[in-house]
Amino acid sequence: MSCAFSGVRAGLVCVFAVLTCTGLVCTAATPAQAAAAKAKLVATPATADLGNLEAGAKKVVNFTLENQGGAEAKKVACKGSGFAFDKKGLTIAAGGKEAIAATYTAAKAAPAKAKALSGKITCGGAVVTFKGSLQPKAAAAPAAKPAETKPEPKADAKPEGKPAESAGTKAKNAPDKVSLKECQATKPPVAFAHKEHIAENKLACDTCHHTQKGLKAGSDTPVKKCASCHLNPTDKAPSCKEKSAAKNPYHIRCIGCHKEKGDEKAPTKCAGCHKG
Ligand code: HEC
Ligand code: HEC
Ligand code: HEC
Ligand code: HEC
Repeated sequence: MSCAFSGVRAGLVCVFAVLTCTGLVCTAATPAQAAAAKAKLVATPATADLGNLEAGAKKVVNFTLENQGGAEAKKVACKGSGFAFDKKGLTIAAGGKEAIAATYTAAKAAPAKAKALSGKITCGGAVVTFKGSLQPKAAAAPAAKPAETKPEPKADAKPEGKPAESAGTKAKNAPDKVSLKECQATKPPVAFAHKEHIAENKLACDTCHHTQKGLKAGSDTPVKKCASCHLNPTDKAPSCKEKSAAKNPYHIRCIGCHKEKGDEKAPTKCAGCHKG
């Protein structure tokens, strides 16, 4: 090993203030250079909304981790209570980015009252704060006798399969009027005249309950709520929290028909449905 500067050589380590060594590389950076060469992790977005979660539901939060510093960030591990991450032990180059999907799994037991969820995800210095709420046990469905109350079915139960008795309100107990508010976040609830709609428009049940083909009025078939699949979809199901007319499943189905009918009593404007 040959030191360009006459430095002291102690074993294989050069000890000197400013060294430039060739052969067995020895470098000593100035404090300013050392600072510039630090890794700096920043998460975008810095906040996440889990929305209203049902017990046991899963929700995916996507964010990007960017290393805005001058050095490679080594073995970045993300942590957040309740979250599982799709990537573990990341190494992010200076200026590099990584897209991260964090899956939150809500507690299995529904609380008696809605419970606020909040906390943070940390990935080596970068922070994503989150909030949301864990929904209480579903309010007894209209017309359901308390004696019939049974544990909620598994979220992945197939509605087309043999209907488990506990899966939902039976078709014969279909509600006359419904206040649609399970997806509510920013807009007033929507009053929906269920019975009138079906009678006046002679609608087949599966026009709306599309996962239950051939559903019949008056039968004992349990009916799944739209929100059970559309509130926190984990598959291709569009979310009922969407604002857009093309993405919200209610907007697609409800406004879709209202436009088609062109009936002035069938609202197509926001306030016609979101009243109050
Ligand atoms: C035909 C009725 C109808 C019309 C018209 C309509 N909506 Fe909705 N919208 C609904 C229903 C039903 C839901 C689901 C409500 C729930 O479960 O909380 C919904 C949900 C939403 C949500 C997500 C839930 C929330 O509270 O944030 C937004 C945002 C929304 N609508 C915005 C709009 C806007 C903006 C317009 C006008 C451009 C509009 N809607 C027009 C029926 C309608
Ligand atoms: C125009 C759309 C539409 C049609 C047609 C329709 N429904 Fe519904 N139904 C809904 C909506 C919206 C709800 C509200 C609750 C939810 O699913 O979130 C609902 C709720 C129900 C419920 C209560 C579910 C629960 O657990 O609270 C039953 C039972 C039901 N419908 C049965 C029927 C039957 C039987 C038919 C055919 C005779 C029918 N529906 C036709 C839209 C429709
Ligand atoms: C068992 C789960 C489940 C239930 C219950 C359910 N949906 Fe869906 N829905 C889905 C899935 C999955 C998709 C996406 C795949 C597809 O198009 O079939 C979807 C798609 C849709 C679409 C988009 C289809 C299109 O034309 O783009 C609309 C609208 C819709 N659902 C409305 C409703 C309404 C209204 C209810 C309640 C009356 C309801 N869904 C109940 C699972 C469900
Ligand atoms: C197949 C067609 C069709 C579908 C699907 C449909 N509607 Fe309607 N809706 C109508 C018609 C037609 C009228 C006007 C009825 C009248 O003449 O009173 C109407 C009227 C309404 C009204 C105003 C009158 C009232 O009942 O207060 C509201 C609100 C409404 N619909 C909400 C909804 C919501 C929410 C959905 C989806 C869950 C929906 N509609 C789905 C056809 C439809």
